[in-house]
Amino acid sequence: MENFKTDLDADGILLCTFDVPGKTMNTFTKSALADVEAIANRAKSEADIKGVVITSGKTNGFCAGADLEELFGGGWEADASLQGEDLLKATFDAAFEMNRVYRLLETCGKPVAVAINGLALGGGLELSLACHYRVLSNGPKVQVGLPEIKIGLFPGGGGSQRLPRLIGAQAALMAMSEGKSFKPAEALGAGVVDEVVDNDKVVEAAKTWIKTKGDPVQRWDKKDYKIPGGGPYHPAGAQVFIMGNALLRKQSYGNYPAVVNLMHSVYEGLQLPFDTAIKVETRYFAKTLMTPQAKAMLRTFFFSMQAIAKGSGRPSGVPKAEFTQVAVLGAGMMGAGIAYVQALAGIKTILIDRDQESADKGRKHCEDLLMKQVSRGKMTKEKMAETLDLIVATPDYDQIKGSELVIEAVFENTELKEKVTKDAEARLYSGDKADSAIFGSNTSTIPITILSTASQKPENFIGIHFFSPVDKMMLVEIILGKETSDETLAKAIDYVLKIRKTPIAVNDSRGFYTSRCFATFVAEGMALWADGYAPAIIDNVGRMTGMPRGPLEMNDDVALDLMVKVQAEMAKSQGDAYVPLAGEKEVADMVAKGRYGRKNGKGFYDYPAEKGASKTLWSGLSDYFTPTVTEAEPSDVAEIKTRLLYRQAVEAARCFEEGVITDPREADVGSILAWGFAPWSGGVISLIDSIGVAAFVAELDRLTQAYGARFEPPKLLRDMAAKGETFYGRFGKDAKAGKAA
Ligand code: NAI
Repeated sequence: MENFKTDLDADGILLCTFDVPGKTMNTFTKSALADVEAIANRAKSEADIKGVVITSGKTNGFCAGADLEELFGGGWEADASLQGEDLLKATFDAAFEMNRVYRLLETCGKPVAVAINGLALGGGLELSLACHYRVLSNGPKVQVGLPEIKIGLFPGGGGSQRLPRLIGAQAALMAMSEGKSFKPAEALGAGVVDEVVDNDKVVEAAKTWIKTKGDPVQRWDKKDYKIPGGGPYHPAGAQVFIMGNALLRKQSYGNYPAVVNLMHSVYEGLQLPFDTAIKVETRYFAKTLMTPQAKAMLRTFFFSMQAIAKGSGRPSGVPKAEFTQVAVLGAGMMGAGIAYVQALAGIKTILIDRDQESADKGRKHCEDLLMKQVSRGKMTKEKMAETLDLIVATPDYDQIKGSELVIEAVFENTELKEKVTKDAEARLYSGDKADSAIFGSNTSTIPITILSTASQKPENFIGIHFFSPVDKMMLVEIILGKETSDETLAKAIDYVLKIRKTPIAVNDSRGFYTSRCFATFVAEGMALWADGYAPAIIDNVGRMTGMPRGPLEMNDDVALDLMVKVQAEMAKSQGDAYVPLAGEKEVADMVAKGRYGRKNGKGFYDYPAEKGASKTLWSGLSDYFTPTVTEAEPSDVAEIKTRLLYRQAVEAARCFEEGVITDPREADVGSILAWGFAPWSGGVISLIDSIGVAAFVAELDRLTQAYGARFEPPKLLRDMAAKGETFYGRFGKDAKAGKAA
C-alpha cells in the first residue's frame, strides 16, 4: 500500500498507520481510498485478523480531508463530451467512491477502531465515523469536524448520514450547516467520539476496546437501532426538520444550494436503510457539485485562497524578505491593531505616537486583546508576556533605526503623513537595514503616488491597507504607487503572509479596489431610498442578496459623517464633473442634525442604549423621501437584488478595465474578505462569470436605461461579451498585479 503501513500484533490486531509519503498532512486521494479498500478486504478475508486499528503517522494530525486538488482538478469534469444526465452520472460515480469504500470497511465483519491523533476534518472525520469505535487525543490544537459547507459543499463521504445517526439530527445539522469543529471535550460530550485520552495513549486505548468489547456491527446496522432524538417520522424528530428548515432558510435566504441539499440528504436519508441512504447522499452531493455556487465557492475559498497564501501575486526572483523588527507610526485604533498582529507573528514592534501616554495607550490595547485570548484558554500567560514584550511603546523616532519596515498609521491628513514619512525615513534609511528596508502607508483614501512624493525612495514606498478591526479582518490590500518597485511589492507580500493575513495587490486609484466597490453598495441603497422604496425593504432585501447587512445599516456602521466627508473630497477633486449621489444632500442634513450613524446611536436607525435591545428605523426618514413601495412584490425584490449586486459588479469590472486590479482570484477573495460580498457567488467577479458576460452586459444596458450611467457597461465588458470570454479565461490563472500605468 502506498499510504498506509500495517503491522499485525500478537493479539491479531492489524494496526494501519495512515502516512501519505512526502506530505506533512494526510489527505484522501484515490490511491488512499484504494488502500482503505485493501485494508477492508484483508480484514474480511484473513482469519488471523481479530480487529483493525487505524491511526496516522503524522505528528500534526490525523487527516485534513479529501485532496480537493486531485478530486476536482480535472477528472471527469474535464471531459467536455459529458453533458446533462451523463455528466450527473459520471459525477455520481466519482463521488460515490468514498461512500462505497467506507461502507466496505464498516461492514468487513471485524471490529475497526480509529485512534485519532490530532486534527480530523471532512473526509478524515468521515472515515472515523465509519469505524466502530473512536478514540480522540486530547490537546489544545485537536479538533474534529465537517467543514465542507464553507466551500459550498456538504459532507458527501457518509458524514450527512452517520453524524445524525450518531448524535441526533438537530446537533448534526447544526454542526454541518455551520461547518463547526468540535474540540476534544465537546466531541466527547456530543458523542462524536467515544473516548478522549492523551496523545500517546490513543492506539493503546483503541486496541483495548478491540480486545475487550470489539463489536463489528455499527449501531445503525443493528435491529433495535433508534435515531437519537427521533427521526423525521417521530414527533420530536419532525420538529427538528420543520424548525431547522425555517432557521436555515432565515440564515441563508436560499442562496446556498449546499445547505438545502444537506437538509434533503439528512431528511430523506434518515428514513432509509443505510446502504440506500448513502446513495441518496451522493445524489444530492453530485447535484451540489454541479451548481455554479459550489464551483465558484470551491474555487475562491479553497484554490484561490491557497494560491494567495503561497504568494501567487508575488513577483518572482526576489529573495524572501525576513521581518524581525517593524516600526508602526501612530498607536491609534489601526496602529495598535497592527502592533498586535505583528507581535503575535513574533516580530519586534516599535509602536510610536506623539507622546509616551498615547503610545502606552496603544500598547494597552494589545494587552487587552492578549488577555482575552488568555481568558478564553487560547493562550498561556507565559506566551502572553512573551508577546507583549515584543511591543516597545515610545515617542522616540530614533528607535526606528534597524527596522526592516515602517508602517505609517497616523491621522488621515496628507501634510501630517508627509511630515512623519520624512522624520521616519531619516532613521529607517540610516540604520543597518537601510539598503533593504521599505516604507508602507496604511492610508485609507490618499493616493499612494501622492504620499510617495515625500519619500526619499519612492520605489520603496507602498500602500499596506489594513481593515478594521485589524485582529479579525484577514485581508490586507497592498497598493502600488507609480514608482513602487517589484522588489518592494514582493517584500510587502512577504510581510503580510508573515503576519498570517491574505494579501491582494492593486494599483493606485481613488478608494483603491475594495473601498471603491464597497461604496457602490451603500450608494445604491441610498438611490433605492430616493426612488421611494421603504428603508425596511431595502435593508431586508440587501441581506437577502447574501451581503452581511443591508446598505443603510452598513452606512450607519461606517459612519454617515465619514461618507459626507469622502463625498466632499470627491466633489473637490472632480470639480464640475462631479455628480452628487442620490440621497447625498439628505444624509448631509442628517449629519447636520447630529445623526452620525451607529457610533453615536443615531443614523438611519435609532440604537437604544440598553444592551441587547434592537435598533429601529428612524421615524424622520420619511420626511426626506416618502416611501411609495411599502410592500415588496417578488418583482421588487428581484429588482432591488439586481441593482445592489450588479452595481458592485460593474464597478469591479471597471477596476479591471483600468488595471486597478488584475487577478480575478484576488478580486474575488478581496471582495468577500474586505466587504463581505455575497459569499455564495464565490466573489464579485465569479458572479459576472456565472451570469455570463453577455447576459450581464444586456442587463446592465437595461439598468442604464432605467437608472442612469452608473450601470453603463465598460468597453472591456462589451469586448469580452463579443468574444464570449470569461474573467477567469481572459485574465488567466497566473495573472499578476502589474505596476501603475
Ligand atoms: P486614530 O485617530 O485612532 O489614530 C491615529 C494615531 O496617530 C493617534 O493615536 C495619534 O496620536 C497618532 N499621531 C498623530 N500624529 C502623530 C505623529 N506625528 N507621530 C506619531 N503618531 C501620531 O486613527 P486610525 O483610525 O487608527 O487611522 C489611522 C490611519 O489608518 C488613517 O490613515 C486611516 O485613514 C487609516 N485607516 C483607518 C481605518 C479605520 O477603519 N479606522 C481602516 C483602514 C485604514
